[in-house]
Amino acid sequence: MQVDELNDTNCKTYLLVAGAKAALVDPVRERLDTYRQILGRRGLELTMILETHTHADHLMLSREAKDLLGAPVVMHRESPSPLVDRHVQDGETIFLGAERIEVIHCPGHTPDSVSYRVPGAVLTGDTLLIGGSGRCDFPGGDAGKQYDAVTTRIFALPDDTVVYPAHDYKGKTSSTIGAEKRGNPRFAGKTRDEYIALMAGLGLPFPEKIQQSLQVNQSGFEAAEVHFPLVADIAAMPALAPAEVAARLASAAPPLLLDVREPEEFVGELGHIPGALPVPMDALARRLPKLAGYVDREIVVVCRAGARSASAGAILGQAGFRHVFNLEGGMLAWAGAGLPVAR
Ligand SMILES: [Fe+2]
Repeated sequence: MQVDELNDTNCKTYLLVAGAKAALVDPVRERLDTYRQILGRRGLELTMILETHTHADHLMLSREAKDLLGAPVVMHRESPSPLVDRHVQDGETIFLGAERIEVIHCPGHTPDSVSYRVPGAVLTGDTLLIGGSGRCDFPGGDAGKQYDAVTTRIFALPDDTVVYPAHDYKGKTSSTIGAEKRGNPRFAGKTRDEYIALMAGLGLPFPEKIQQSLQVNQSGFEAAEVHFPLVADIAAMPALAPAEVAARLASAAPPLLLDVREPEEFVGELGHIPGALPVPMDALARRLPKLAGYVDREIVVVCRAGARSASAGAILGQAGFRHVFNLEGGMLAWAGAGLPVAR
């Protein structure tokens, strides 16, 4: 399998080629025309778009861009976006032509981070960078899980495996597992606790484009369709675990459940919580007057993975609703806890 980097910037997009079939890994929306030209010039058939995680620093493909490319989007099952066509999980094999791509779940930078192992190489997303690792301070980030994923899963690959990261800020293009095991200062000689302390102390500013990118990438809506709240306000949203929400639903004063996913998802694979009110994110603003009776009552906002609902909760908070909670982990966590669903 041939691996080519297409952007030549510090944000990397890879083209995987096996025979006449190709996959794009982490395409950047604004470079769509370039990708289409490259595919056309080389006579390649794009069969899939692989994302290593939900990105916070660039716009992923829109619905329109996906249609233009005409290929399904593949992401880990914990990805929040409704634009994913195929959800994968740890250990799953994806075929590009006759060649294998293995999914390695690497939560830490985001809950939905994966590495894609291809023959002789691994695309590590923002999990393992050359001489570094992806930050773990966004909502859902977890430095301990990232340490475990890198040290027990990625570093278990053969030493000569080539490492292709999703970012590099020093002009490097690739490394190897052996070189990173020996020389990556984040991991070499570091215990798990030391790594967690190191990551907690980085004090990085939010990426420049987080406000324009993250919620668009999480929700599948464009910034023109939904007035997204500030990312900093979302981080302050109180969350309730599924069992706590179930307990409150069984109480004498149950909260209103507001499900902000799209209509197909409400009745789709994951179903919905019985009694939930479906209000997709793009309809939320105009439906607020109808929710006026709940200004002083509890509202629990629900989505697939808990990301879109955090945005929607912050919108409700700004509109004066005083007791808004996010269902932590969304319907994935609710179903994972064995709690009842309707379809
Ligand atoms: Fe990232």
